[in-house]
Amino acid sequence: MRFYLTTPIYYVNAEPHLGHAYTTILADAAARAHRLRGESVVFLTGTDEHGQKIERSARKAGVDPRAFVDGVAATFKALFAELQISNDDFIRTTEARHRAAVETIWRTVLAKGDLYKAKYEGWYCTTDELYVPETQLVDGARCPTCGGKVEWLEEENYKFRLSKYQQPLLDWYRTHPDYVVPQARYNEVVAFIERGLDDLSVSRTSFTWGIPVPDEPGHVVYVWFDALTNYLTAVGYGDPSAEAQARFATWWPADVHLIGKEIVRQHAIYWPAFLMSAGLPLPRRIVSHGWWTMDGAKMSKSLGNVVRPRVYVDAYGLDAFRYYVLREMVLGADAAFTDEGFHARYTADLANDLGNLLSRTTTMIARYCDGVVPAAAWRDDLDGQLDDVARGVIAEATDAAANFEFSRALAATWRLVSECNRYLVSREPWSLAKDPAARPRLEATLHRAADVLRVVAAPVEPVMPASAASMRASLRVAPEPWTTP
Ligand code: MSP
Repeated sequence: MRFYLTTPIYYVNAEPHLGHAYTTILADAAARAHRLRGESVVFLTGTDEHGQKIERSARKAGVDPRAFVDGVAATFKALFAELQISNDDFIRTTEARHRAAVETIWRTVLAKGDLYKAKYEGWYCTTDELYVPETQLVDGARCPTCGGKVEWLEEENYKFRLSKYQQPLLDWYRTHPDYVVPQARYNEVVAFIERGLDDLSVSRTSFTWGIPVPDEPGHVVYVWFDALTNYLTAVGYGDPSAEAQARFATWWPADVHLIGKEIVRQHAIYWPAFLMSAGLPLPRRIVSHGWWTMDGAKMSKSLGNVVRPRVYVDAYGLDAFRYYVLREMVLGADAAFTDEGFHARYTADLANDLGNLLSRTTTMIARYCDGVVPAAAWRDDLDGQLDDVARGVIAEATDAAANFEFSRALAATWRLVSECNRYLVSREPWSLAKDPAARPRLEATLHRAADVLRVVAAPVEPVMPASAASMRASLRVAPEPWTTP
């Protein structure tokens, strides 16, 4: 069992914000959940460092592009370390291994007859690094994706025969109805292909910060063609050594590309077409999530409405931050980040519900049972109900997490936490402790509460690894896999 999971590689035009942190935390939780199920995992993230946008940002900062990307890439790595991201690799598109992979796929697609020289005359959005057809412009001059101003471009470049892959893509989508998640994004992709695909420019000639097109001075590879290839590079593509070839055979295709909803088209249309042309298998699934918004708009560097994760990690702790973002955003939908929302979840879910259950349970076990979880030799209907809730919750949390729906997984888990708090209130172990004849009931009650916490620690672990560890430590139970009923 192997699982290869990727995040988008992030542009290094500016330092990371919550949007970048979120995708990476979501991927991290999924990677951890898969590892807990005993699978071997490659979890890849990294940075997208070429193209006109980056070149301009470097120039604006008055720094050489190479030094500029080194500096910003380091801030991504540092943030991901602080967020305890368990990535197995961090790819930078300026690395030699990546240049080799891009040259290899370029040569393969060229040999297939899918590249030809042409002149591009049209609009371009440098923020998104996208060619924008005149018909899609908003207000005659704005990019339909980011709302920024587009620029007129006239340059020679290579075009990729995307039109040739229209029917193969439609056939693929017809036979893979779950290929893009959620369904609404799948439908958009299919509708887009059905409207007809034009050939796509895949090299640029009006600037130099990119991977040179093999044997074609003056051309650099279009940044999306370059960037998407990172998913191949990381598992050995383009490296002729026997070790790398074996690694590639083991790990490609990727199981999931996790992305934000604004880059579905590049991943669900361009990328599969490039892969078909190169004769490579397609990734198994594309999972897209919505946007964090602030003051009603997508959080983005250009609008300046960004949350810096560090501020919340410093104030509330890392686990609370990871919990909030994974609990608050429903997969596929947008979510508003607010201080009030953060504080409310922190207080209600973490301090009151889980915090109270853990502290009252461990305190009573310490006080009444010398700190050792007692056996349960007694039960009644209330225990049976609690067990039923636990079974249902674990089944739902497992299914939800497998589909990247951590909000649903956590909501289910917290139903069990609340049920157990209610159970303690009905049983009143603090009263039972006063009556020696009620000892079997007291022990059974504390046993069940401790066991619920043990069960809860499993779905908590991928989201809040440190909290799961401390829950287990205070109950003196060993780490265990996700699926324990
Ligand atoms: N470099 C390209 C991706 C190339 S992948 C081969 C890119 N980079 S980016 O820096 O703009 O990052 C985009 C990703 O960051 C989104 O797909 C999403 O995962 C995340 N987010 C950036 N802003 C976001 C929000 N406001 N909300 C949620 N996630 C967002 O596109």
